[in-house]
Amino acid sequence: MVSTYPAGVQTNGSNFILSKEEKESVSPNQSLLPLTASINKNDNLEIGGCDVTTLVKQFGSPLYILDEESLRTACRQYRDSFKQYYKGESQVLYASKAWNCLAVCAIVTSENLGIDVASGGELYTAIQSGANGDKIYLHSNNKSRDELQIAVESGCTVVVDNWHELNTLVKLAADDSYSSYAPYRIMLRLTPGIDCHTHDYIRTGQLDSKFGFDPNALDELFAFVSKQKSLNCVGVHAHIGSQIFERQPHQDLAALMVEWLKKAATYKINITELNVGGGLGIRYIESDDPPSIEEWVKPICEVVEQTCSTANIPLPKILCEPGRSLIGTACVTTYSIGASKEIPGIRKYIAVDGGMSDNPRPITYQSIYRAVVANKMSVPSTEKVTIAGKHCESGDILIHDAQIPPTEPGDTLVVMGTGAYNYSMSSNYNRLPRPAAVLVGNGEASLILQRESYQDLIRQDCLPERLKKSE
Ligand code: LLP
Repeated sequence: MVSTYPAGVQTNGSNFILSKEEKESVSPNQSLLPLTASINKNDNLEIGGCDVTTLVKQFGSPLYILDEESLRTACRQYRDSFKQYYKGESQVLYASKAWNCLAVCAIVTSENLGIDVASGGELYTAIQSGANGDKIYLHSNNKSRDELQIAVESGCTVVVDNWHELNTLVKLAADDSYSSYAPYRIMLRLTPGIDCHTHDYIRTGQLDSKFGFDPNALDELFAFVSKQKSLNCVGVHAHIGSQIFERQPHQDLAALMVEWLKKAATYKINITELNVGGGLGIRYIESDDPPSIEEWVKPICEVVEQTCSTANIPLPKILCEPGRSLIGTACVTTYSIGASKEIPGIRKYIAVDGGMSDNPRPITYQSIYRAVVANKMSVPSTEKVTIAGKHCESGDILIHDAQIPPTEPGDTLVVMGTGAYNYSMSSNYNRLPRPAAVLVGNGEASLILQRESYQDLIRQDCLPERLKKSE
């Protein structure tokens, strides 16, 4: 476990830089800054060998900076941990809802990960990035017929969430245009009834959830599926929630899922894949203490091996689908500091050139972030300020009581841990163009998302003839 972060107040930005030994021993999900973060001779933050202030000059502000090494290291740690601790087969899928774009999909694919997609749009992006359908799993609790059609055409596995989808697939297989793709490869998503401690909006395992089949209807479900020649049910799936630090819920889940496998066998359904979902948390603030990737994977493997051995059934292929713990800490968002407002005896606000449109997590989940100032890494963090976004919304606060050095307009604020569910949940609120994103590594930076322009903002707008201003 990382010991880098001393309890109490941060003294300066360098506290968040890992030592050489820590870089080798931690999981990326345990580090606040990307693994490659360092401070150069100008006292500037570097990521992937690139000076952050130079990146901002080159690519503009705000900017998402994604560290390739952190992302690849996390992919490898998942993959290697399963290889080390599990005797059966395994496949790690990237939950691309965390950040779905061509470059990220291409990186995880090159690390031999599969991809979990949650819509036709994510599926399209994954395929365009070069991912193969046989390693793509389609989620969502309300897949449209269109989405199911693309899924079966591209040979991906459909993680069926409910009876409506099951019936739609059966009907699709009876349609001449889609019958040749049958039997369709499916998994069944079940609600495990396992609770975990996380924000209510990102908890999914409890029985009262919109996701998945009710496990009390398992007999009816397996009886139905076993009779469908057009469906090849290869697995069961469950996901209990996100940003989870406890290990017990996933171990309980793994044991419960083996029970589902046993039941499926009584209906002569040959289930060979067991997908335990994602959910491993990351360190957003010093006191967060998530298990490492290895510490999360190992007990799941042990539980599956033990329960299968007791039940005398063959080991299934284990799948998991992490999102946040793969990419969350690999990225930072930089902002340019602008206006400030001091309310004597109350607080000082410092405003930046982005906000809830590029990071909706603070306003949505009250998520807490930490920041450093890229051009003042060794300057003592003597100021307590509230970092405000630039949107017309009082709740648009990125960080309450951030401890940072004294700043002036033009300084570069760096918010850490913004790789997961930031770009993917970004919006154009107040018609702010979305920021650019760059991928950094070995001193090089490549653009992976272009900054939106004002022209982009009106690209989909239509102005009816009768509203056009006559000359
Ligand atoms: N699998 C399924 C079926 C999921 O629904 C999710 C996340 C994952 C995997 C990946 O979970 P992760 O490893 O990233 O925890 N927008 C929220 C998070 C929503 C999570 C949705 N599902 C946030 O910003 O915290």
